[in-house]
Amino acid sequence: MPPILPGATIGIFGGGQLGRMTAMAARTLGYHVHVLDPGADCAARGVVDRVVAARFDDADAAADFARHCDVVTLEIEQIGRDSLAAAERFAPVRPGPAVLEIIRDRSRQKAWLRRNGFPLGDYREVRTVSDLEGAAADFGTPLFVKANHGGYDGRGQVRLERGDGAAAAWRDLAARASVAERGLDLAMEISVLVARSPSGALAAYPPALNHHENQVLAWSVLPAPVDPALARAASDLAEGIAETIGLEGILAVEMFVTTDGALLVNELAPRPHNSYHTSEAASATSQFEQLVRAVCDLPLGATDTVTPGAIVNLFGDVWLKDAPPRFDAALATRHARVHLYGKPGARAGRKMGHISAIGATTDEALARAKEALSSL
Ligand SMILES: Nc1ncnc2c1ncn2[C@@H]1O[C@H](COP(=O)(O)OP(=O)(O)O)[C@@H](O)[C@H]1O
Ligand SMILES: [Mg+2]
Repeated sequence: MPPILPGATIGIFGGGQLGRMTAMAARTLGYHVHVLDPGADCAARGVVDRVVAARFDDADAAADFARHCDVVTLEIEQIGRDSLAAAERFAPVRPGPAVLEIIRDRSRQKAWLRRNGFPLGDYREVRTVSDLEGAAADFGTPLFVKANHGGYDGRGQVRLERGDGAAAAWRDLAARASVAERGLDLAMEISVLVARSPSGALAAYPPALNHHENQVLAWSVLPAPVDPALARAASDLAEGIAETIGLEGILAVEMFVTTDGALLVNELAPRPHNSYHTSEAASATSQFEQLVRAVCDLPLGATDTVTPGAIVNLFGDVWLKDAPPRFDAALATRHARVHLYGKPGARAGRKMGHISAIGATTDEALARAKEALSSL
């Protein structure tokens, strides 16, 4: 198949901030963009040609959506199987249904990684409270229990601190099929974004270093200040996964580096990732443009870092203070930029935007991003 050239129409399942920023990159390259999202007032609404307001499991809407697109991609993995199949009748869906089938379900994703020889921490599937008690007895605490479906930003997860808390944890998870993971002693968390085109070209970015607070990403820097051997191992791991799974598009591989030096896969996200928002300022090619290039089977962009960069997330809490956020004050920090997603309605913990900054070092970039954040 020839590449899909500018002037064509890209469809995106999901019009949240990731869809919005992808749409803006697609627009820069001269594509038309349609999104399908349950909310007509989704974050992408102002930057796309068409919003189809429909649920992600509405196969008829997905078919009608794809009928008007030359290729369909996504910003969220929870798209119904029937919707993907319906869309595929009209346009290539990249990443494809087979990849999403593996990734969407946490236990299936882990089983696939293990079967293919990729390194993981200890975990077990849990379907009953006694499975959970067994995992707590074998792995000890803390134990991370994560629902197979629908979790993100620490939602759909329970951290078990004591073995006798299994029954309560199981209730908190509403008895959903889950995985229980041994709590690891983390030296750091990193991620690697990798792109693969339908023609088979591969390009990994250098790893990003990620800092979570309350199981949600608070800040991230690129490139991760790690020794070159670890960076190489992480990139090789991500490329191996992209190749083996037959990725078409981009994939973020979240990884744990344990205090005893092991590099383990945490989870996969087949779409743009919060930890690479830094790529817009720090990399030769942003993750959003890279996604557009990959799904259109264009040459992949260079992934080298042109300057150290950092991002801090902007949560709705900033809006809930007495006075409105002082974006003018934040922009007074040199080399800092404000990114707002245009979401109606700030709520505590809701991602409303991020602040990025560049610097001579990642420390300097992060200090600038934090300074801009605190002046809001
Ligand atoms: N097994 C574990 N050991 C230690 N920390 C963990 C473990 N699993 C998750 N975490 C912490 O919780 C965060 C969120 O977990 P993750 O599985 O990535 O879920 P989400 O889909 O919400 O991002 C991780 O980035 C890490 O900080
Ligand atoms: Mg995660």
